[in-house]
Amino acid sequence: MSDFQQPLPLETIKEKYRRYMLPNYSPANVAFYFGQGELLYDTENKQYIDFLSGISVTNLGHGEADIVEAIREQAERILHSSNLFYNQEQALLAEALIQHSFPGRVFFCNSGTEANEAAFKLARSHGQKRKGGASEFAVLENSFHGRTMASMSLTAQSKVQSGFGPLLEGIHRIVPNDKEGLEKLFEERGPSLCGMIIELIQGEAGIRPLDLAFVKLVRELCTEHAVLLIVDEIQTGFGRTGKLFCYEHAGILPDAMTLAKALANGLPMGALVVALGHEELLTGGMHGSTFGGNHLVARVAYETLRIIVGRDLISHANALSEYFFRRLRLIQAELPELIKEVRGLGLHIGVELSRPGKEIVGACLTQGLVLNCTAEKVLRIMPPLNLSLENADTGLSILERVFKDQPT
Ligand SMILES: Cc1ncc(COP(=O)(O)O)c(C=O)c1O
Repeated sequence: MSDFQQPLPLETIKEKYRRYMLPNYSPANVAFYFGQGELLYDTENKQYIDFLSGISVTNLGHGEADIVEAIREQAERILHSSNLFYNQEQALLAEALIQHSFPGRVFFCNSGTEANEAAFKLARSHGQKRKGGASEFAVLENSFHGRTMASMSLTAQSKVQSGFGPLLEGIHRIVPNDKEGLEKLFEERGPSLCGMIIELIQGEAGIRPLDLAFVKLVRELCTEHAVLLIVDEIQTGFGRTGKLFCYEHAGILPDAMTLAKALANGLPMGALVVALGHEELLTGGMHGSTFGGNHLVARVAYETLRIIVGRDLISHANALSEYFFRRLRLIQAELPELIKEVRGLGLHIGVELSRPGKEIVGACLTQGLVLNCTAEKVLRIMPPLNLSLENADTGLSILERVFKDQPT
C-alpha cells in the first residue's frame, strides 16, 4: 500500500516537519487530506468549508471533475519535454490568454514571484534598449510582489525585506492614492524610471483597492514618461474580483500583466503577458525556465480558463459577492466595535477588525471554516468562484457566531 492511501496522524506529520523541514512557515494545527468542491477534510475526517481557496488559487474548488480528467489524461500522455521543443498545450493556452486579455505575447513560469522577476527584466530591457539605461522602479507602499531577491526588493514592506539586504537600488515608494506624490516622483525621476508595478487591490496589505482616478493617473504618467506599467494580477486574476482581470474595472490597459495563483487551479504556474509593441524586449536566450508552461500545467490552466469562461462562473461569483457583502455589512452594523470595514470587489473580500484577527481565524477553523488574516487585522475571504449559496450561508453563519462569541 502506498504511503498516501491512508491519512497519517497529525502528530506524525508535525514530528516530520520538526525533524526535516525548514521552520519558515507556521502552519495551523490541521493537515488537509481530501477536498471536494468547497469542502475540505482533514486527516481525522473533520469537514471544513473553504473560504480561502489556498490563498486565491483553487478558484474552481477541489476535485473538479474536468480538471481531474485533464490531469489524468495529460499525465498518461506527457508531462514535460522542456522549452527546447514546441508544446501544443502551451500554444493553445497562450492563445486563450491573449483572446481573453489584450493583444500581446506570453511567457510561462512557475510562480508569482517568477512572473514578476520576468516583468522586471522586461522593464530593465526597456530601460537599456530605449531609455538610455533607465533602471529605476516606482512601487506602492505596502505592496507585495513576492519573495525572491528582485520581487522582494520591489515589495514595499519592511517586514518582508528585513534581514536580507542589500536590496536592489533605485526603487521609489509612493503612498497609494497619493496623486501629488506620484506626479512629483515622475517629474523628478521620470527619465530614470524603467517600470512601475502595482496591485490594483493590494492583497497582502489588507485588501485595499486603489482609487480609479489614481490608477488612471498612473497609466497617464507611465505613458507620458515611457515607463512600463506592470499590473500584478497574481492575486486578483481569473475572476476573483468579479471580472476576469481586475484591470477591466479600472478601464486601463497595462504594458505587462503578471499571473499565477489561480492560473492552473492549484498546479504551480505563473505567466507574464506583454502587450504588443514590447515583445522584442525579451528575445532569444534573454529569459527562460525549465519547467515553465510544461505540458501538464499548461493543459490544466487551459482547462481552468475554459471552465471559468464557459460556465460563466464570474456571473455566479458576482451574485455570491452581493450576498457576502450584504450579510457581512449586516453583521458589521450589529458589531461596529469589532468590525471597522468590509471592503473589496467580487469574491476578494477583506473584513477589517479593530483588533488582531488571529484568534478569530483559529476559532473559525475549530468550527469548520477556513479563512485567513492578513496585515494583522484584516480577515481575508476568498472562496472558490463556484461556491454554493448553501455553503456560503453556512460559512457566514459560522463566522457570525465566532464574531458574536468574541469578548467585548
Ligand atoms: C500580488 C502578489 N504578487 C506576487 C505574489 C507572489 O506569488 P508566489 O507566492 O506564487 O511567488 C503574491 C503572493 O501572495 C501576491 O499576492
